[in-house]
Amino acid sequence: MKNTIVVGAQWGDEGKGKLVDVLAEQSNLVVRFNGGGNAGHTVMHAGETYKFHYMPSGMLHNKLCILGTGVVINPKDLLEEIELFTSSGHTPRLKISARAHIIFPHHQLIDAKEGGKIGTTGRGIGPAYSQKASRINLRILDIIADDARGRIKEALKDVKDILIYEEIFTLDEYQDYCRSVSEEYASFGEKFKPYVTDTEDLVRRAGSSEESVLFEGAQGTLLDLNYGTYPFVTSSSTLAAAAFVGGGAIPGIPIRILGITKAYTTRVGEGPFPTELFGDAASNLRKAGHEYGATTGRPRRVGHLDLYALRYAIRISGIQELAMTKIDTLALVDGIKVCTGYMIDGKEIDYFPADSPTLEKVEPIYEDVPPITNLTKAEWVELKEKSKKDLPDSIRSYIKFIEEFVEIPITILSHGPERNETIVF
Ligand code: IMP
Ligand code: MG
Repeated sequence: MKNTIVVGAQWGDEGKGKLVDVLAEQSNLVVRFNGGGNAGHTVMHAGETYKFHYMPSGMLHNKLCILGTGVVINPKDLLEEIELFTSSGHTPRLKISARAHIIFPHHQLIDAKEGGKIGTTGRGIGPAYSQKASRINLRILDIIADDARGRIKEALKDVKDILIYEEIFTLDEYQDYCRSVSEEYASFGEKFKPYVTDTEDLVRRAGSSEESVLFEGAQGTLLDLNYGTYPFVTSSSTLAAAAFVGGGAIPGIPIRILGITKAYTTRVGEGPFPTELFGDAASNLRKAGHEYGATTGRPRRVGHLDLYALRYAIRISGIQELAMTKIDTLALVDGIKVCTGYMIDGKEIDYFPADSPTLEKVEPIYEDVPPITNLTKAEWVELKEKSKKDLPDSIRSYIKFIEEFVEIPITILSHGPERNETIVF
């Protein structure tokens, strides 16, 4: 299939960055459609580690990469990322939607003050999207306009009361802020000009021609603003459907929807996590999988693979096939289980609770999983050209169990961070 949407099927950090990097090779265009600097992709290539927050992972293939309309952009952070990438000898082929919204420093200040109860990444994501929805925010096209300074000052009037009432600024500080931020953001606008275009048109034309487009989702389905574990979610839509809204995909074009899941589960920030592990079991898994946030460095919460939540995510996002990552990590720990259902007050339920306090109190139903065979790099390489039936029994039966439960196939298995540590079935 020439067009593909890649989305996380859990709470983010499933390894989308690596998978997008692998899949970008066969694509002409890579498009990000949601989120902002809250995303953090770690991509390893040729012995180098790249951490991207904005730039689609397709950058490393020198593909045309797009930040779509649904993305919120902190211009300072994006410029730094572009400069870092350029200084390491690469030339970014980047286009930014004129309609994408801006993250201002005051969004970050509000997030720092209010985001604690959700455990946000502190990047100003929620406040930027909420001011977008309130129709008082600015877009990239505003900061590249000839009268950018005036537009920024005008927009800041709309948030004056909020900033002062919330005690983000005193009146004096607010006035200084208006002066400095209008200068600073207008100068960012100058630097952005070469990158800004009507990206929707680029995507539309590519999607309905011979070219192939890869849509790269940020975060994961269970962090979706509408269908995730609200209020412990991000502020954008993380479903495959968001590629149409925020990335310029056209309904009706042939498209493949690939979900990414880890071989276990992780989550950063607050919120329900039914299969969470604690104590030694948690620290062993966290260490084995290097589970520390790419954006904030926070230790990730870790747990058993929650097939019940995964099946909900698959259904809600319309995921057609799965890539499973970090099977190699699972081989380093014991006591593996998978969750196949939830109980409330001793009774099995047949829905995924929308209410977070209810989800907090469900009791997972587990199946034990035999230990996963620990293969050497050389043994994995040998498996590369083989099919599922040639995998060691433990891995083959783990995959089969998952496929039967979630009713879609696992078509890609990732067993390490490098691009070539990937088996495509
Ligand atoms: P926000 O997106 O910074 O507002 O954070 C809201 C919630 O989403 C918090 O629990 C974050 O930890 C989580 N979150 C946001 N982005 C990511 C991500 O890229 N990976 C994993 N969790 C994320
Ligand atoms: Mg991440």
